Amino acid sequence: MPSRINPSILSADFANFERELGRIASADLVHVDVMDNHFVPNLTFGLPMVQRLQQVSPIPLDVHLMIDDADRWAPGYAEAGAYSVTFHAEAAADPVGIARRLREIGSRAGIALKPGTDVTPYLELLPNFDQVLVMTVEPGFGGQSFMPEMMGKLRTLARAVHVRGLDVWLQVDGGVSLDTIGIAAEAGADTFVAGSAVFGADVPAEQIAALRDAAAGHSHR
Ligand code: DX5
Ligand code: ZN
Repeated sequence: MPSRINPSILSADFANFERELGRIASADLVHVDVMDNHFVPNLTFGLPMVQRLQQVSPIPLDVHLMIDDADRWAPGYAEAGAYSVTFHAEAAADPVGIARRLREIGSRAGIALKPGTDVTPYLELLPNFDQVLVMTVEPGFGGQSFMPEMMGKLRTLARAVHVRGLDVWLQVDGGVSLDTIGIAAEAGADTFVAGSAVFGADVPAEQIAALRDAAAGHSHR
């Protein structure tokens, strides 16, 4: 299975998003971190910005909502045309209902788990989702260190997806770099978010290719 590399524009130049998107056009999707300063202690941008990014991006949008009340806000991002919308389990009253709505609108539906959130209650819900995002840092900021202790969660998910014959992407987000991507791929991740590793590189396209190769070298899926 090919590895997907999704650069996070949280580490891009916020004054030049269109140009920054051009620098990562060889990536699979662009990861868009929406933060509300309530669910996480940081504030980025909301729906109007995502609508505009959708218009100018050369690659599909992978929206990661770090906001309270996902039930209310998530569908708007699907309506904006995002290819994938991932909301946090901790911020959702009815995760299955949100996922159903996202799919009806035409987006892939993802659910994200903070490092302290147990994966077990979500295993039986897997058929309702197209992606599970395992956070490998506390959400809120780029440039933090990868938490290898999250790999057990990924292995559990990979086993469940395999046993049930599901097509659910397993995404890791936080501290992914050439040093850590192999660990995540080995544990079963197939979709990799990288912010500082990609936008901190001299040539983002080369870094994307190197990350893809590094992940493929460790993938078991
Ligand atoms: C953190 C965000 C990440 C962030 C990752 O809350 O969800 O997407 O951009 O940045 P790096 O790759 O620098 O850890
Ligand atoms: Zn993210």
